[in-house]
Amino acid sequence: EAAEKAGYEHFMLKEMYEQPKTVADTLSPRIKGNDIVIEELGMSDAELLSIKKIHIVACGSAYHAGVTGKYVLEGLARIPVEVDLASEFRYRNPILEDGAMVVVISQSGETADTLAALRESKKRGFKVLGIVNVVGSSIARESDNVMYTWAGPEIAVATTKAYSAQLIALYLLAMKFARVKHTVTETEFSDMLGDLARLPDQIELLLNNKNRIQRFANRYIAAKDVFFIGRGIDYAISMEGSLKLKEISYIHSEAYAAGELKHGTISLIEEGTLVASVSTQPALYKKTISNMVEVKSRGAFVLAVTCEGNREIEKASDYVIYIPQTNPFFTNSLAIIPLQLFSYYVAVGKGCDVDKPRNLAKSVTVE
Ligand code: G6P
Repeated sequence: EAAEKAGYEHFMLKEMYEQPKTVADTLSPRIKGNDIVIEELGMSDAELLSIKKIHIVACGSAYHAGVTGKYVLEGLARIPVEVDLASEFRYRNPILEDGAMVVVISQSGETADTLAALRESKKRGFKVLGIVNVVGSSIARESDNVMYTWAGPEIAVATTKAYSAQLIALYLLAMKFARVKHTVTETEFSDMLGDLARLPDQIELLLNNKNRIQRFANRYIAAKDVFFIGRGIDYAISMEGSLKLKEISYIHSEAYAAGELKHGTISLIEEGTLVASVSTQPALYKKTISNMVEVKSRGAFVLAVTCEGNREIEKASDYVIYIPQTNPFFTNSLAIIPLQLFSYYVAVGKGCDVDKPRNLAKSVTVE
């Protein structure tokens, strides 16, 4: 096992460090010159144009990747997207109409609920695209088409690199649709390709900042509750950040859409409560700052994760982590890195079994 960890203390840390490579490996086979080619989709441009709605179905972190996918697909390609937890999808008699496409996302390819949702969709006559990491897994075999995330084997129960690869697969899919539907200009499209190509180095840069995050995390090993807030894509990032923290450190945490705090959760804020505010969408900076002021004035300690240049945020924060500039649709890939590191170092600081948290399994094959 020590050899497999390649000098890292835990698989989770090793896998976090593999993310620049994972992202590059998931991107590179699908970028051809100035275009995106996803042969595995098995769909002509005309067939892509006939897709009127996308249903994304997944569990856990794959579901969180799907929530980001909804913002990116709707924003870039203007296709309506519904995202469902697989365990809910089956039993709500979902309305699948002509022109709908089902996308199931799964690292293991064996999650029982996701597999059942896939079978239900096929039974109703809909084509299923699987975004899967494990080659030859049940979901890969039963999907009509498979887009593999080239993350390699993931051992730590808490997913990091497979989640990052799922995001990339969804960006590529959204850009492909956007290209075919002409919902982005040529210039926007090639700028986005440039931004995608820069992600691996930017992730590396954020990983190299780990000591600063470790020092910060050490202050929170005794925390009782932590709140993550954000709007839009930042809300999706918050959900994943919160899940990472609670699953490996056993600290209760919640993700809240920043604008929704005042409708309940704000009553839970006490003197010193940590609130992590994710704010990577320039159009929403001001709105999120006002939510940060609301919690700060009630005693919260506010950690901000935002993009370089957003100096405004410092007046409403106690601690700021800056991520490099990228297209606002791709910020999840960068903002999640400090949140993964934070969860990891809180859990290590508490002496938790980081790679195998209690009660959790890497792959859940029961419904
Ligand atoms: C388990 C894992 C999670 C994972 C979820 C979905 O609960 O602990 O990390 O996100 O299953 O797994 P899948 O293999 O379908 O992505």
